[in-house]
Amino acid sequence: MEQKRTAKFNLGNSDQPTEFPILSGSMGPDVIDIRTLHAKSGMFTYDPGFLSTASSSSEITFIDGDKGILLYRGYPIEQLAEHCDFMEVCYLLINGELPTVDQKVIFVESINEHTMVHEQLVRFYSGFRRDAHPMAVMVGVVGALSAFYHEALDISDAAHRELSAYHLIAKLPNITAMAYKYNLGHPFNYPRNSLSYAENFMHMMFAVPSEEYKPNPVLARALDRILILHADHEQNASTSTVRLAGSSGANPFACISAGIACLWGPAHGGANEACLAMLEEIRDDTRIGKYIDRAKDSKDDFRLVGFGHRVYKNFDPRAKLMRETCHEVLSELGLENDRLFKLALKLERIALEDEYFVSKKLYPNVDFYSGIVQRALGIPSSMFTAIFATARTVGWISQWIEMISDTQLKIGRPRQLYTGVPTRAVVPIAQRK
Ligand code: ACO
Repeated sequence: MEQKRTAKFNLGNSDQPTEFPILSGSMGPDVIDIRTLHAKSGMFTYDPGFLSTASSSSEITFIDGDKGILLYRGYPIEQLAEHCDFMEVCYLLINGELPTVDQKVIFVESINEHTMVHEQLVRFYSGFRRDAHPMAVMVGVVGALSAFYHEALDISDAAHRELSAYHLIAKLPNITAMAYKYNLGHPFNYPRNSLSYAENFMHMMFAVPSEEYKPNPVLARALDRILILHADHEQNASTSTVRLAGSSGANPFACISAGIACLWGPAHGGANEACLAMLEEIRDDTRIGKYIDRAKDSKDDFRLVGFGHRVYKNFDPRAKLMRETCHEVLSELGLENDRLFKLALKLERIALEDEYFVSKKLYPNVDFYSGIVQRALGIPSSMFTAIFATARTVGWISQWIEMISDTQLKIGRPRQLYTGVPTRAVVPIAQRK
């Protein structure tokens, strides 16, 4: 962080400007460092929804929403999606550099060492109803991991932090697949470390004891791409939740569980599930106009799910890649004429030409396509957000490690603008009217 200039403001009734440093990162907008504002003026800033507030500095992910740029550790997402697999991306996010061949072998071996879960953890599942939403199971089971690794929960120890990251990355596919199998009433599958991360994930979700299961490489590559594209996205709502929870010194499993809870919301990771439900509701292309009109009606709460993004205001680079994957998967499976896919493409075309969506810069986001891809892979829509959580775990834990390693770390504590009743005296109950 470099300070080049200062910003001067006349605060309140003062004629004298108050000066604040302007800090520059390596790319992206500068920030005004207002940490001394309250001490200098007695005032706070007001920015609900963090529309103009950088909550932290970070070296992990960079987004330029206007240009549609997403970089992990400086590398464009398009190049990572083309040349790397998810394990390389995990290594990159955690360590800051892509692995060499030898480093990758050691990293994959370290992850594979932890793919199984404790048999006691398996028993947690039977406490849930069979129809429990997988995200409800994930919030509970991932939080419960805190109870299994007491010996490695010293967050001030870098080796413990790394081990927690390995536990989480290794076990999340297993925990997610078990949530699915539990819903189905199938037995759980133990992981197979001879398979790649994505293949193993598919094996744990789809294999049954009565049949031979061989993951299809095109479909495994598609799942791997979903994992890469969702691995991190700088200070989004769930990552900020993980950071805020972690800032109190809470253990990493509890923090990731908090992130999973936040991700579940339909405005965030729940969008791909909600998008597919919306396509099912629209049902056929003659009804698209009606739904577009509803989305544009300011008196109607309905939004076209899968459109719009807080940060991307021209296009979502992940959406472009996911659209490609969507075509690959549907052609591999001979589903080019899939009803929902054709409906989605038509909806996309109409919305992209509509003045309302154009003027508000509402473009399809990654979740518009990822739901269709996952459905083609045989993943039910109730599992979509859990798959997203599995992918995002590496981003959350990388951001958590970065925050905990910062010697300047302070507990996160936003302030507020109080609008309630001013001070008043309590009237004893006998005298109240
Ligand atoms: N359909 C119709 N109108 C929309 C949509 C939409 N999908 N998204 C935004 N708008 C409108 C809003 O009504 C608002 O209109 P106004 O200016 O007349 O009030 C304007 O566009 C700006 O919308 P905001 O909600 O203020 O934009 P914000 O940046 O806060 O929200 C969000 C972004 C939450 C993603 C929003 O676009 C949305 O709800 N989209 C649908 C849900 C979705 O797809 N979420 C997935 C995000 S991607 C992810 O989490 C991986």
